Amino acid sequence: MKNDAIGVFDSGMGGLTTVRELNILLPHENIIYFGDTARIPYGSRSNATILRYAKEDVEFLRKHQIKMIIAACGTVSSVVGDQPFVTDMPFTGVVYPAVEEACSVTKTGRIGVLGTPATIKSGSYEKAIHKWNPSYFVASKACPLFVHLVENGYTAIDNPVTRLVAEEYLLPLKEQEIDTLILGCTHYPVIADLIADVIGKDVRLISPGAEAAKYAKACLDNKGLLSDRTETGKNTYYVSDSVELFAENAKHFLQTDITGNVYSSHV
Ligand code: DGL
Repeated sequence: MKNDAIGVFDSGMGGLTTVRELNILLPHENIIYFGDTARIPYGSRSNATILRYAKEDVEFLRKHQIKMIIAACGTVSSVVGDQPFVTDMPFTGVVYPAVEEACSVTKTGRIGVLGTPATIKSGSYEKAIHKWNPSYFVASKACPLFVHLVENGYTAIDNPVTRLVAEEYLLPLKEQEIDTLILGCTHYPVIADLIADVIGKDVRLISPGAEAAKYAKACLDNKGLLSDRTETGKNTYYVSDSVELFAENAKHFLQTDITGNVYSSHV
């Protein structure tokens, strides 16, 4: 069990923000990743469809030897909420780990939340923040175009298209004088440099994927489930659409070539 893999899923490459952090924090763990690239975006769909996709993603991961599941997707985490979703092994979404970090670091209690339409509509981050401290101010904004820009590799800090979209979404938020911004969809930290440039360098950015990885480490440690492997763990990626496109875009984000470790698979 200890040396089983950690299963991570997202609708696309956003969950790589969790994988990157897991590789730093837990270099001896094997990771099985599923990116449902044939059905992305999740964030513009109904709750019923998102929940069905999420269940199928979990079933796919269960075909492998896994000891924990991370829903590295703000949309799935928001729709699942507090419902019992995976109960027979450790499980986490990204909302609570991100909110815990945001609420711990904010100095002014003014927090921004970006997310997909489904995430913002659910109010998941806002509710969790208010559970932590009801007096905190929360400004939320749905940013649906970011997912497509990231999936298509429009991620460079000087990309004029992505910058224009970021300004459209973020300039109104600037007026809210937030000091902390939760990038509530796991795709958004892939363009964190550009977002920081537009919102201002003094605003602290929170990556939910990375925070979920920290939570996973603590959780596995707690349960005595950390791997005792001495060699470096292996990442294996499955995607439901183009293997080549995923490997190409992932290379820029992970700064390593994963071609050869990406396989095509359908849920
Ligand atoms: N990466 C996902 C999230 O965190 C979903 C993006 C999408 O499929 O719309 O919300």
